Amino acid sequence: MKIAVAGTGYVGLVTGVCLAEHGHQVVCVDIDEKKLEMMRLGKSPIYEEGLEELMTQNASRLTYTTDYVNAYRNAQVIFIGVGTPEKSDGSANLQYVYQVAEQIALSVENNCVVVIKSTVPIGTNDKVEEYIKNHLKHDVVVEVASNPEFLSQGTAVRDTLHASRIIIGTETERAKQILLDVYKEFDAPILTLGRRSAEMVKYASNDFLALKISYINEIANLCEIVGANIDEVAEGMGYDERIGKKFLKAGIGYGGSCFPKDTKALSWLASFNDYELKTVKAAIEVNEQQKLKLLKKARRYYESFRGKTVTVLGLTFKPGTDDLREAPSLINVPLLIEEGAVVKVWDPIGKENFRKLFKDSVEYCVSIEDALKSSDLCMIFTEWDDVKNLNIETYKKLMNNAIVLDGRNCYTSESIAKMREQKITYESIGR
Ligand code: UGA
Repeated sequence: MKIAVAGTGYVGLVTGVCLAEHGHQVVCVDIDEKKLEMMRLGKSPIYEEGLEELMTQNASRLTYTTDYVNAYRNAQVIFIGVGTPEKSDGSANLQYVYQVAEQIALSVENNCVVVIKSTVPIGTNDKVEEYIKNHLKHDVVVEVASNPEFLSQGTAVRDTLHASRIIIGTETERAKQILLDVYKEFDAPILTLGRRSAEMVKYASNDFLALKISYINEIANLCEIVGANIDEVAEGMGYDERIGKKFLKAGIGYGGSCFPKDTKALSWLASFNDYELKTVKAAIEVNEQQKLKLLKKARRYYESFRGKTVTVLGLTFKPGTDDLREAPSLINVPLLIEEGAVVKVWDPIGKENFRKLFKDSVEYCVSIEDALKSSDLCMIFTEWDDVKNLNIETYKKLMNNAIVLDGRNCYTSESIAKMREQKITYESIGR
């Protein structure tokens, strides 16, 4: 099929490339010529395992352009995968979705289906369809379908090619059949439902996972108080299939471009409709507190950080990505700097993005060892393998004062016992 994809961020680019992998002819549209030039050379503007290989393998079926008129003119299906960032009141900013909708309305010369992949508030598909109808330049039929995305950063390609499910929300049989055709080669269960339900599946899923994380974090905090171990508790809970083993990892809170934004957006949507979504509100509140948990622990060792050297291991919101959005490092590092600490940071791939925000206010280290040298305190914000596999003795050997605060529970009980032997002060979350 001839498919166009608007937006070449995580959702747009991965979708486009995976559709090409299954034989579709795909044109990716973006406004950033520099990014497009990179992609034409087979380079991905985002770090995502396996993506560049697929871009190269499917190069004959993939084109990249700023020329949306030609891209949309004869497309049978147009995917919208642009960002829906958070507005200051927590609601989703749909400006980019509507920009693309307008371009589509002015360009299409054949009947087509417009598929919204971006996470949008319930009812947006209806409104976008109406908007396109009202702005159409040619006499064609355009239907809008909801097809939310469930990929995780770091495993985006795998999550798309072997999705847990493909949700197709349509209001007509024609749109439904076209989307079933688009996805016929994909290895995933396909569910067809109404557009509003499809939009809600996305928010309800992300918010449920955020809630699960905040719940386990609260239980972890309580475990610390009453002397239980959250790893053991989570394992014990996970054997119940109704609960499941996944997303029960306690830590310093969830970050990323999705959970923080989608919890606030659904909470906003509820209150806009005079309904209070109490559980989701609680998840947000717990997460905000949790992100400061290591700093609170650090106060037990240092009343002030003035003149202290603090090592930060891991800057990104999770391993496997260079994305910093809503990462705990972003709120903790400024607080440390403000108090006069000398901050040394290490991250295998997130450093360059961090440098764009923090310039020379921190010291960027090429190795963990370099970051730990002469340090008074080490804080772990991301569970990179290099941190997990680090020889425990390194902390003792290199730090001024071997205090390690682990926000991602990187070490096993054996390693923790070793730390105790070596007189390394170690604290983690809920253990
Ligand atoms: C999330 C969802 O997992 C995807 O299903 C969804 O498609 C995506 O949002 C989206 O809406 O686009 P992502 O944000 O890439 O994916 O990352 P996750 O792996 O879900 O992690 C999010 C945050 O939760 C990370 O900061 C991670 O450290 C934290 N987390 C995750 C925990 O603290 N504990 C856990 O047990 C799991």
